[in-house]
Amino acid sequence: MSLFMIDQKKCKRDGICVKDCPAQVIAMVDKNDFPSPIEDAEEFCINCGHCAAVCPHGALTLSSMPLDACPSLQKDLLPGPEAVGQLLRARRSIRQYKKEPVPHDLLENLIDTARYGPTGSNKQQVHWTVFEDPAQLEHFAAMVIDFTRQNLPGIADEDMVRRMRRIITAWDNGKDRILRGAPNLILVHSPADLPFAEADCVIALTYLELYAYARGLGTCWGGYFTVAANLYAPLAEALSLPAGHQCYGTVMLGYPKTGYERIPQRNAPLVTWR
Ligand SMILES: Cc1cc2nc3c(=O)[nH]c(=O)nc-3n(C[C@H](O)[C@H](O)[C@H](O)COP(=O)(O)O)c2cc1C
Repeated sequence: MSLFMIDQKKCKRDGICVKDCPAQVIAMVDKNDFPSPIEDAEEFCINCGHCAAVCPHGALTLSSMPLDACPSLQKDLLPGPEAVGQLLRARRSIRQYKKEPVPHDLLENLIDTARYGPTGSNKQQVHWTVFEDPAQLEHFAAMVIDFTRQNLPGIADEDMVRRMRRIITAWDNGKDRILRGAPNLILVHSPADLPFAEADCVIALTYLELYAYARGLGTCWGGYFTVAANLYAPLAEALSLPAGHQCYGTVMLGYPKTGYERIPQRNAPLVTWR
C-alpha cells in the first residue's frame, strides 16, 4: 500500500505538503504532477502527519492515519498570548491536596491531551503509569524515606544531608514531604536506550501539568521519588516498569487545597544574545 493517497479532485498541486514534509519524502517531479512518495519514503517517513494536517484542501490521506482521526483545527478555541502567558506564569507546584479522588476519566483525558507533546523523530514512546490508590502512594513514600535513610551516610554534600534529615524528621512526625498526601501519582517512563527518551518524557509530563492546572487540578513534580524509583530496588520492583525502561519523571496530582493570589518573582533569564 502506498504511504499516502491523493484525492486528485481536491489536490491543487500547490506543493504545500512537499515543502512541509520534515523528512522530504514527498515529491512533485513536475509542477503539473500530483505529489507522490519518493522511492524510500516508507523508510524515512516519521509518520508525523504534517502532510495531511497542512493541506488546506483535505487532499492527502496517510495510509496509517485516516483523515477522520485528524480533526479540523478549531481556531476559535485557541487562547490568545495573554491567556497562555498568564497560564504559564500562574501554574504553581501544589503541596496540599484534598482527599477527593480525581475521576478516572479525567486522568485519562489529561494523558490523552499530554500525548500531543513533541517527541524526538515523532517516536511517541512515552509510557505512563498511573497510581490511583492513596494507600499505595503512602507505601511508596515510606519506601523513598527508607531509601533516603539508608543513603544518608554516603552523601558528601552537607547541605543536602541537612535537607534530607529534615524530610526524614517530618516523616517521623507524620508529615509526608515526598508525595505530600496526594491521591494520585503519574510516572513517565521510556526505553532507556531510546534517543531523547528523557526529553520526550519531561515534555509530556510538563504538558500534562499545565493542562491539569487548566482543569482545576494541582500537581507537583516528585524529584525525590523519581531518583528512588530508578535507584532503590524494592521501589523499582514495586513499580514494576517494563524491562529496560527508566523513569524520567513523576508528578503527584489531586485537587488543590490552596490557591495563589500572586505570581512569585523569578530570576532574570540567563540569556546570551549573540
Ligand atoms: C525536576 C523537578 C523535581 C522536583 N521535585 C520536587 C520534590 O521532590 N518535591 C517538591 O515538593 N517539589 C519538587 N519540585 C517542585 C519545585 O520545587 C518547584 O517547581 C519550584 O520550587 C518552583 O515552584 P513553582 O513550581 O510553584 O513555580 C520539583 C520540580 C522539578 C522541575
